[in-house]
Amino acid sequence: MKVLITRRIPRAGIKLLEKAGLQLDYRKGPPLSEKELKDAINGVDAIIPVMPDQITRGVLEAAGPNLKLVAHYAVGYDNIDIKAAAEMGIYVSNTPGDLTEAVAEHSLSLMLAVSRHIVSADRFTRAGNYKYWDPMVFLGSQYNGATIGIIGLGRIGSYLAKLCKNGFNMNILYYDAKKNERAEKEINAVFSPLENLLTKSDFVSIHVPLLPTTKHLIGMHELKQMKPTAFLINTSRGPVIDEDALIIALKEDWIAGAALDVYEEEPSIRQDLKDLDNVILTPHIASATRESRIGMSRMAAENIIEVLVNKKSPINLVNKDINKPRN
Ligand code: GLV
Repeated sequence: MKVLITRRIPRAGIKLLEKAGLQLDYRKGPPLSEKELKDAINGVDAIIPVMPDQITRGVLEAAGPNLKLVAHYAVGYDNIDIKAAAEMGIYVSNTPGDLTEAVAEHSLSLMLAVSRHIVSADRFTRAGNYKYWDPMVFLGSQYNGATIGIIGLGRIGSYLAKLCKNGFNMNILYYDAKKNERAEKEINAVFSPLENLLTKSDFVSIHVPLLPTTKHLIGMHELKQMKPTAFLINTSRGPVIDEDALIIALKEDWIAGAALDVYEEEPSIRQDLKDLDNVILTPHIASATRESRIGMSRMAAENIIEVLVNKKSPINLVNKDINKPRN
């Protein structure tokens, strides 16, 4: 049985697949174009795509009847047509859990970096501008006792909330489709309507999946509600923020700054964002720790083995409404 892996991933998962006797078409080069992807997927039993691969109905159809599983190498699966997959009897799995700490830690790193001006201070220092000590430059704000508003208190959001509570004694507000009673009890997280969260928070960090209901969740209206001293952090999906609105908010100082790991049109990033000093940009690396990426590789492989070898449903099944699985 044949497995297509579209991008270079850690050996851990590759070894498991080889040991299970599966035949691998392992692409280590640049991203496959739509045509290359359609050619490569034809005849395979499973695929491990990465986040930028668009697994559309057309791509699933191009696979032919053997395809049983799309074992996504990511937790977010907005790039996969899960409805088409369910209709066609193709399982979709993802890699929840293994990247929780990594993504929350990156969100925290971005938050600290942007609010203490680490990137601009580094540029300033390298440019030879540190001529004398000035008590009034690069002033940041203290975390102890500050309020963080977390939009989406699932695995990643809750872990970030814990870091902020236990590490910095911060107050936690959260907005989510459902209440998180455990976080309310353990770290005093307080559920809040979005408007109240935006008005009260010193930091706002986004941890929701991209859905029709979360697209442009943060736009002009929401940015206007934030404090002028507040920072916005996004490691979820770019389109959750209306970037045009964010650029205006940053240019006109409606908020103090933003730190982004994801963008509306990845991997292209608007020049306006690159030109602004009050924003930090990273290239979608929130889950990029060795530990997390190794875990994700192993998890994707285990999902494939569960389906192709053990003839069961994948451990991390996403499309639970699947119609007559193919295996
Ligand atoms: C990365 O963005 C992921 O969803 O795992």
